[in-house]
Amino acid sequence: MDFRSRLEMKPLPFWLTIRADVARLREEDPSMRNLVRGLLSQGFWAILAYRIFRWCYERNIPTQPLRFFIERIIECTTGISIPAQAQIGKGLRIHHFGGIFIHSETVIGERCTIYQGVTLGDLGGWGGVPILGNNVLLGAGAKVLGNITIGNYVRIGANAVVLQSVPSGYVAVGVPAVMKDEAGVVQ
Ligand SMILES: CC(C)(COP(=O)(O)OP(=O)(O)OC[C@H]1O[C@@H](n2cnc3c(N)ncnc32)[C@H](O)[C@@H]1OP(=O)(O)O)[C@@H](O)C(=O)NCCC(=O)NCCS
Repeated sequence: MDFRSRLEMKPLPFWLTIRADVARLREEDPSMRNLVRGLLSQGFWAILAYRIFRWCYERNIPTQPLRFFIERIIECTTGISIPAQAQIGKGLRIHHFGGIFIHSETVIGERCTIYQGVTLGDLGGWGGVPILGNNVLLGAGAKVLGNITIGNYVRIGANAVVLQSVPSGYVAVGVPAVMKDEAGVVQ
């Protein structure tokens, strides 16, 4: 699947993306208490700030230098860095605090899940950045690096270092990550 076509994707209405992000908070437990906890979580603050500045960025509405300062405050308070230039589909869920860095050229599909300590980036200033499909789970501490494509419904294990593209439906675990299908067969 050519996820790079997503680079051409049209900007979505603000409320559509936020509604999908909020819906993710209620997946496991639809109670009001759980929703309030989710809305007060650092992951949601970071997503909300990203959605606001992304909305402006897509419409060429100038927000600097305010964006610079808000992004730094979000980084300091949540330990999460999501530049407005990154393309992220609706329904993103970020669990827990900190150590999350998303490169500005990264593309992330819909309904993806990110745990603490995840990096989506290049190889050190070169080598391109990853493109993720829909419903990708990135376990705690996972690093996904370089010009690679991660398919739909891929699950990346805690602390994996992924340097190769992963086909849809596979699990990627270890350092460097190996890919396993449903039957546990290594690719
Ligand atoms: C990758 C993951 C999604 C796989 O879950 P699963 O589909 O239930 O797969 P399994 O547990 O059957 O594991 C499949 C194989 O990968 C291995 N594996 C699973 N997670 C691994 C990890 N993080 N690192 C290395 N190997 C791992 C298993 O040992 C198993 O190996 P085998 O085929 O040789 O038996 C899950 O193990 C994981 O790491 N989730 C992240 C959870 C997380 O970050 N939680 C944070 C909470 S705060």
